[in-house]
Amino acid sequence: MITGKGVPFFYDVTLRDGNQALKKPWNTGEKEKVFLKLVNLGVQGIEVGFSGASEMDFEACEHLANIAPGDVVISGLARTLESDIQKVYDSIRNAKKPRIHTFIALSPFSMKFVLKRQPKDVQKIAVEACAFARELLGKKGSVQFSAEHFGDSKNNLNFVIETFEKCISAGADVINLPNTVERTRVSDFIEMVKKVARVIGKYCTIAVHCHNDLGMGTATTVESFFAGATQLEVSLNGLGERAGNTNLFEVAVSLHNSGVKVPLRMQEIYETAVFISEISGVPIYEKAPLIGPDALAHRSGIHQDGTIKTMMMKKGAYRPIHPTLIGRDSGDYIGFTSQSGKTAIYELLTKAGLPITMHEAVYLQPFMKSLAEKKGELSIDDMEQIYFDKLFNIKGKIQLIKFEEVQGGKIHKYRLHFIYKDRHIVETGTGEGPIEAVIDAINRAGFPVSLVHFHQMALDEEKSGARANAITVIKLKNKETNHEILCRGMSRDTRKANINAIFNGLNLLFK
Ligand code: KIV
Ligand code: ZN
Repeated sequence: MITGKGVPFFYDVTLRDGNQALKKPWNTGEKEKVFLKLVNLGVQGIEVGFSGASEMDFEACEHLANIAPGDVVISGLARTLESDIQKVYDSIRNAKKPRIHTFIALSPFSMKFVLKRQPKDVQKIAVEACAFARELLGKKGSVQFSAEHFGDSKNNLNFVIETFEKCISAGADVINLPNTVERTRVSDFIEMVKKVARVIGKYCTIAVHCHNDLGMGTATTVESFFAGATQLEVSLNGLGERAGNTNLFEVAVSLHNSGVKVPLRMQEIYETAVFISEISGVPIYEKAPLIGPDALAHRSGIHQDGTIKTMMMKKGAYRPIHPTLIGRDSGDYIGFTSQSGKTAIYELLTKAGLPITMHEAVYLQPFMKSLAEKKGELSIDDMEQIYFDKLFNIKGKIQLIKFEEVQGGKIHKYRLHFIYKDRHIVETGTGEGPIEAVIDAINRAGFPVSLVHFHQMALDEEKSGARANAITVIKLKNKETNHEILCRGMSRDTRKANINAIFNGLNLLFK
């Protein structure tokens, strides 16, 4: 059941909170590129900068407000100083939906030790700032007030709410509740959001702005939505001060998974994330939810088994979403380590174009595991090497030295030279085809086998390299015991591939 208040309003702060935390903040050109990505993603509001921070940021805010689509709210951030508020107004006034966003801390700690002011004075400053912003905007646009460090205001919440009421009376339309430094438990924060929503929710939009210092930004933001906050302040790739702001992608997907209608083009997420990483110089860490290179990787046998069984399904055994939801075309990734199992061997080699049965995968597993124990995750080349060594080159008591095609045409005659338990054997056989002739020679040499199944396939150039261009797969039966085995041979010469397969089979049948 969806208990959130309507449709979430995604208000992105990458260009402000994200930008202010970069080692090299973006210039106007770079900001425009990010801005266009946000528009493409379909966010409803964009904080374009801190207009008073520098001449460069002022220009960027002005430029982005000029090019903004008419349906997107464009805001600039201002301290409660008139000069800051004026700068924001001057820079974003041309947007169709301008917003002045002003803030001051209302937490006991910040008022005492940072602002060094009495609460009543701080409240007055907040209210006057909202009034001034409203005066500048007139009827056009909105005013947002943020109580910085709201998460620290559990003990003076009534004072904070009273300040909000006064700010609303002075012209604020949006009241933002920041968890400026994440040190409040999710459930405590949610209780505070609920109380604010109960008292003033009818008169304004409630926003939350969570930082991610303890890694719970997404949880707090998502739960705040269900507690009555509709404006969700987020950033691309979670960029922002310290450990960052709440990640837009995680919130969007989490709400989507909870049945909420998410007003974003979610299939743009992955490409946007990669772009943001490049332009910000902040790499996407390997394990980052949804967008990390490893976020869809499965290495344990149990997970690989479940993953492979549900790979084509919308819901996968071990993933939060189908990757195409966020535009990731690479599906689940299976990597083979010492923790992996037969299903991974089967899947990876089949995907690489190499025929294998589950029975053979079981046979290869100890060889693969033992290499992986030394090496870590195996590359597909490592796995192919083991596959060819162990399935195509079976070392046993029977070793082919050479074969001769004595006669072709209607009746084929083949002579085999091979070693069996140190004995050199030469035997000739005949048949309607070359394979029949070879099997006949083997029977005459005292090995009672028959051919049950034969299949030959060409190996693509890339796979075969100098090794082979034909693979033969046969099923050979011991006529005395009726025991059947599957065996393989490969060679650049198709006849040799067949004979290699038969000798590999003999070594499996007569150990
Ligand atoms: O984290 C914070 O408190 C802020 C405010 C300015 C909204 O970024
Ligand atoms: Zn912030």
